[in-house]
Amino acid sequence: MLWRLQENIIDQKNIKTLIDFIKSTERYTQFTKVKEFEEAWSKWQGRKYSVFVNSGSSANLIILDLLKDIYKWKAGDEIIVPTITWITDISSVLQLGLTPIFVDINLEDFSFNYQDLQSKINRKTKAIFLSHLIGFPADMKKVKKMIKGKNIAIIEDCCESHGATIDNIKVGNLGDVSSFSFYWGHHMTTVEGGMVSTDNEKIYKYALLKRSHGLARELPPKYHAYYKRRHKTIDFNFLFLTTGFNVRNTELSAVLGLSQLKKIDQYIKIRNANHKKFVNILKKYSDFFAIPYKDGISSFCLPFILKKASLKKPLQKFLTKKGIESRPFISGNLLKQPFLKKYSKLNGFPNADHIHSNAFYIGNNQFVNENRLELLDKTLSEFFDNNHD
Ligand SMILES: Cc1ncc(COP(=O)(O)O)c(C=O)c1O
Repeated sequence: MLWRLQENIIDQKNIKTLIDFIKSTERYTQFTKVKEFEEAWSKWQGRKYSVFVNSGSSANLIILDLLKDIYKWKAGDEIIVPTITWITDISSVLQLGLTPIFVDINLEDFSFNYQDLQSKINRKTKAIFLSHLIGFPADMKKVKKMIKGKNIAIIEDCCESHGATIDNIKVGNLGDVSSFSFYWGHHMTTVEGGMVSTDNEKIYKYALLKRSHGLARELPPKYHAYYKRRHKTIDFNFLFLTTGFNVRNTELSAVLGLSQLKKIDQYIKIRNANHKKFVNILKKYSDFFAIPYKDGISSFCLPFILKKASLKKPLQKFLTKKGIESRPFISGNLLKQPFLKKYSKLNGFPNADHIHSNAFYIGNNQFVNENRLELLDKTLSEFFDNNHD
C-alpha cells in the first residue's frame, strides 16, 4: 500500500530524544516529564490546565465522570451526543449511567445539526458533548448562544481537531473542558495518549484525582496540608478523595509528546495545504462529490462525500487497487452499531445516514505530497471516465 490511512510520524529526532531520556532516567512512570508536557500543551493550546492521560477515550471518560460528581448528575440525566463521532464518546455516557440523547449532524462542519440540537435541549439536559470532527471547527458560538443562562456544560471533543480555530480561537477553548487524542495517525502522537484541558481549577483538580485512583497526593501541593489536616488518621499517600480510574500515561510518552509538540504547527500547515489541493482536485469532479470546506480547519483526513451512494464501494475498491487505503467516515451512523440496538428505532438522522452510505476518507499527514495528489487526480479521472452515469 502506497498511501496508508496512518503512517509513522515518529522521526529520528523523536527517537534520539527518547533514547537519551531512557539512558538518563531512573523513572518511567508518571513524573516530571508528564508535568512538563502538560504545561507545554496548555501553553500551545491556550488553556490554564491540562492533564495527560493514556487515550482520548480516557480523557472523555474522566471528563464525564468528574462533571457528574461536581454537578451531582443523577442516573438517567441527559447528555446530548452526535450520531457520528468516535464510539467511546457514546460508551462513556452509557458506562456512567447517563442517558445519551442523539442529535443528527450537519453536512457543512459535521458537528450537530444545530436545529435538531436546539429541539433536544430541555430541563433534563446536563451537558452537550460536542465533537469537532475531522478537523472542522464546529459553530461553538451558535451552541453557546442556545444554552445561555441554562445550567448546561459544554464538553468539546477535539480528538481529531488539534489547532482548528474559530475566529482565531483554538477549538477546545470555548467550552468548559476539552479532550484531545494523541493516538497514532492524529496531528501529533504519543503512540497512545490523550489530554484534558480546561480553565476551571475545580475541573482540573478532579481530573487529577480521577486519573489516578482518586488519590489526594495527585493534587497540586498547595492543597496537601488542607487534606492532611482533615484526615489525620489516614496516611496522606494513601488518602482517596473520590472514585477514580488509573488512566495515567508514562514519562516515555510525555517525552515523545514534548518532542512532537515542537513540530505540530508545521504538521498542521502541511495537512491544511494538502487539504486545499485535495479540494481543488475534487472540484474537477463536482458532479460526483459534495466538497465541504471551512475556514479554521486543521485537516485530519481527506473526505469523499459522493452524491451517489452506489459509487462509494466501487471507488473505494478502485483506490485500494491503486494503493490508496480508505475507511468509513469515522464509523458512520453509530445508531446502526449492534450494541446501540436499543436506539436503532430512533429516526430523524438523515445527514448521519447520508454520511454512512455515501462517505469515506483517506489519510492526510506530512507525507502526503504532490506525487500522491497527482496519483489521486489521475485515479479519479480514470474512475469517473468509466462510471459517469
Ligand atoms: C472524535 C474522537 N473522539 C475520541 C477519540 C478517542 O481517542 P483515542 O483513540 O485516543 O482513545 C477519537 C479517536 O480517534 C476520536 O476520533
